[in-house]
Amino acid sequence: MKAKDIVDKYISFFEKRGHKRIANSPLVPQNDPTTLFTSSGMQPLIQYFLGEIHPQGKRLVNVQNCFRAADIDEIGDNRHTTFFRMLGNWSLGDPARNASQRDAGGYFKKEQLKWYWEFLTKEIGLLKEKLYVTIFNGFNDISKDNESLKIWTEIFEKEGLNANERIFHYGADKNWWSRAGEPEKMPEGEPGGPDSEVFYLFDVAHDKKYGKECHPNCQCGRFMEIGNSVFMEYQKTKDNKFKPLPQKNVDFGGGVERLLAAVEDQNDVFQTSLFLPIVKSIERVSEKDYRSNHKTMQIIADHLVAAVFITAAGIAPSNKEQGYILRRLIRRGLDNFYKLEGKDIKTILTSIVDQYKETDPPLLVDFEKIKLTIIEEEQIYKSTLSRAKSYIEKKYPSTGSEQVGDEIKGVRKILSDDAFILYSTHGLSPTQIKSLGFLFDEQKFAEKMKEHQKVSRKGAEKKFRGGLADHSEKTIMGHTATHLLHQALRDILGKHVFQTGSNITNERVRFDFNFERKLTDEEIKKVENIINEKIKENLPVHFEIMTLDRAQKLGAIGLFDEKYEDKVKIYFIGNYSKEFCGGPHVEFTGILKRFKILKQENIGHGQRRIYSQVFD
Ligand code: GLY
Repeated sequence: MKAKDIVDKYISFFEKRGHKRIANSPLVPQNDPTTLFTSSGMQPLIQYFLGEIHPQGKRLVNVQNCFRAADIDEIGDNRHTTFFRMLGNWSLGDPARNASQRDAGGYFKKEQLKWYWEFLTKEIGLLKEKLYVTIFNGFNDISKDNESLKIWTEIFEKEGLNANERIFHYGADKNWWSRAGEPEKMPEGEPGGPDSEVFYLFDVAHDKKYGKECHPNCQCGRFMEIGNSVFMEYQKTKDNKFKPLPQKNVDFGGGVERLLAAVEDQNDVFQTSLFLPIVKSIERVSEKDYRSNHKTMQIIADHLVAAVFITAAGIAPSNKEQGYILRRLIRRGLDNFYKLEGKDIKTILTSIVDQYKETDPPLLVDFEKIKLTIIEEEQIYKSTLSRAKSYIEKKYPSTGSEQVGDEIKGVRKILSDDAFILYSTHGLSPTQIKSLGFLFDEQKFAEKMKEHQKVSRKGAEKKFRGGLADHSEKTIMGHTATHLLHQALRDILGKHVFQTGSNITNERVRFDFNFERKLTDEEIKKVENIINEKIKENLPVHFEIMTLDRAQKLGAIGLFDEKYEDKVKIYFIGNYSKEFCGGPHVEFTGILKRFKILKQENIGHGQRRIYSQVFD
């Protein structure tokens, strides 16, 4: 069974149980300023957990390409990958809460846990003796998940397994899920809830380095998490407490790469049939073997796979946002490749595209462009390294030769401040700095780094609070303004103009679109005037759910990749704008009072960015 077979079986298993397949959303989110990348299948669905109506109904399924930047430093073990594919099934609304929802097909814990067990043991044939589960033990006012305990106990007893030995209990640090993590980290308004995870046990010895006893959440690699059912039923309130969401939701996520590892009973995901050909290509071009270089090769394989997918999403390496992450991935991948004395990464890129082309055909179409982008970044990196080297060489005269690792090199002892400049200005990691032959006080460097991370984390938290997902009135107003702006730009600049991204905080609205030149002052004025006119007209805003075909006939704009969806949700602003969108929006444009364009920017690749503001 290949990765693709697992995906196909999962989708059809849930389709047979009344789920509608929804599209794999873009890896770089179109309309979610809270994050740089799509990092779980639920992320594009957030508004539906909060009560917006989904055009496909209450049962959804898909496979979603995901990237988790936070895991970059964890790569180099048997199970973490920054890019992965997540299987997801969702129930938007619980049958128990009100009868009309039952008619419309919501479900909750009982169905979810039973179905996933059935999928694992019957559809993909995992041995039941290899499976263990975890449940939520309670947190503050939220009680222990006794319902899941009861359901799992019944499942195990029916299978003739000892439930006590199979069910493990953990607190909110392990068995609670929200986009922000644990309950304390969730911003106001964020949905989350207890979860129940399934683990696969590999037949390998426990490593005591990770603790006396092994257990599902032990980090030794004996257990691997292969699926997480989140019972998304709470919402964070202003006073740091929780209230029940208007509906109880199921949010399931399971990594394809890990399920494949379980199916192949192979505890190293980099040795599964998905990654093995990629690893073999690294072995070939470096003439080194995986066994003695596994960590280095895991990093190369992981980072280059992620780099291929991010480049395919239209991102170019840069010093900002997604581009910066892409740059780090390529450079860290290259460092490890150079460590193995590898010279040509093109062969590895080809083997990556070979492995994914069946499930992700655009990789093949765009392969030349992807390859060029990554190779160009390699050239830029090489000149950065030589510039960094001459910066230090000018500042510090040579002190002769010393032993560094296995090599004798010309070594400079440099101040940690200078090492930090190499990190923050030239983008070199401590390992890269050392490999150039520059030694520094690592403790002092680490302190500086900690300070730096604290500042960037603060930025990230602020960003999280500011997004559309906060669902504050001002942000919702900003969202409606993007629809007016989209249409007004098309009226003034032409019908070939379309939105390529947006980022809405309660302070300003950022809107990206394709257009080849700077807008004139007159064009800006015209766009503002149209929007302010529509605000004055106090147009009603409403949505309709319709077939994709009808939406296209109506000329609705903003349709992305809807290949699996027969029904779509279209938001109308009077007769002025019709746009594909999940919501939420204000009810009347008059709520916006006034709209102003603050500035415009060229963001490259034939795209422009407008910053604007709405006034209430
Ligand atoms: N959304 C559930 C998960 O990512 O585990």
